[in-house]
Amino acid sequence: MSDTVVLFENIHPLADKAFEAAGLSIERHAAALPVDDLHRRLSSAVLAGIRSRTRMDRAAFDAAPNLAALGCFCIGTNQVDLKTAEERGIPVFNGPFGNTRSVAELTLASVIMLMRGIPMRSAAARRGEWMKSATNSHEVRAKKLGIVGYGNIGSQLSVLASALGMHVYFYDVEPKLAHGNARSCASLEELLAIADVVTLHVPSTEQTRGMMDKAAIARMKEGAILINQARGDLVDIDALADALESGHLLGAAVDVFPKEPASKEEKFVSPLQRFENVILTPHVGGSTLEAQASIGEDVSGKLARYLALGSTKGAVNVPEIEPGEIKPGRARLLSFHANAPGFLTRLNETISSTAANIASQQLQTGNGLGYVASDLEGPLPEDFIDRVNALEGSIRARVIRP
Ligand code: NAI
Repeated sequence: MSDTVVLFENIHPLADKAFEAAGLSIERHAAALPVDDLHRRLSSAVLAGIRSRTRMDRAAFDAAPNLAALGCFCIGTNQVDLKTAEERGIPVFNGPFGNTRSVAELTLASVIMLMRGIPMRSAAARRGEWMKSATNSHEVRAKKLGIVGYGNIGSQLSVLASALGMHVYFYDVEPKLAHGNARSCASLEELLAIADVVTLHVPSTEQTRGMMDKAAIARMKEGAILINQARGDLVDIDALADALESGHLLGAAVDVFPKEPASKEEKFVSPLQRFENVILTPHVGGSTLEAQASIGEDVSGKLARYLALGSTKGAVNVPEIEPGEIKPGRARLLSFHANAPGFLTRLNETISSTAANIASQQLQTGNGLGYVASDLEGPLPEDFIDRVNALEGSIRARVIRP
């Protein structure tokens, strides 16, 4: 009987390609399941795929004794007890770049709409008002776009905005290669003083939380626009509301909020709801069918490579190794173990006690955990994997024989 991958929450069908190629049986569920049901479905799973609504806590891992790896077909991994997964030698993979383009496109669309004053005119038209005027309506060409955080999204946006003829400035705490004619600013203050539109693309950290507070917003140019499609706690929403009220800012686009409804049933409330020059969206910056397809392909590929080769490249909770294809005639021993002196000696002694030879070995350690791939030539005894699992410090071992 073939191993089973259990997929929850309607994961994109493109994921099936990698699983089928790996010879796995695929069990699909359209939604997140109630806990009992989830646990029952996990009991036979060798691989599992979830999105943000399935909680993989300690009890869920307890219910999944055969689980070799977990795929989060999304960006975040907060729904997973990563520590438990790590302690059990279960790599957790996600798809951090799948929706980069989707966010960059929404940001660019927001820049154009806000520079033209469209949200306001659209709201007026719905009320039967004909706001036909060029007041506060601008082309984006030759305007200054200030990008805070020049990572995956920020740099992608930089390329798209430059193609529209915008002058791009960016600020990042890390040295970054500027794309095209984009220019780096030495400080956030410098960027805020230059930009006609400021857009945030940084993670939520101790340094970035509240970075756009009252003082920072006051530093923005008169009539500028602020966009936050990154994380809800980067901007002081009341300070933003004040700046919109006073007319200091001409508009804003906000996709992420300090407090977001937990479900469709919960009402969304924000002090920004009263402004017609603000585009409000329900945290959909990265939500497109294309992003889901791309994440489906990315994460399923990582899971399949882990199963077939032991590659942990892209795992968020275990040391990363990429041991590559297994040469003909070799078997690969993969071992998760406690990162303490002596394990590798014990492991190699165990291998030496058989007729097998170590052809190559790759080890990586981190966070108290070690992961080693040993490619072995020669016959292995029946009880070989039991002997490795019985070693002091061993967490989980398996052998791949192609
Ligand atoms: P990334 O990690 O590739 O880039 C973040 C950049 O911010 C890095 O270059 C980093 O050096 C820089 N940075 C960190 N701290 C900084 C600071 N204090 N000042 C200036 N720069 C700083 O991340 P990526 O993929 O570009 O994502 C950016 C943001 O977008 C994240 O907050 C992410 O959570 C959010 N996001 C939002 C989505 C949505 O649905 N609205 C979807 C996807 C991502």
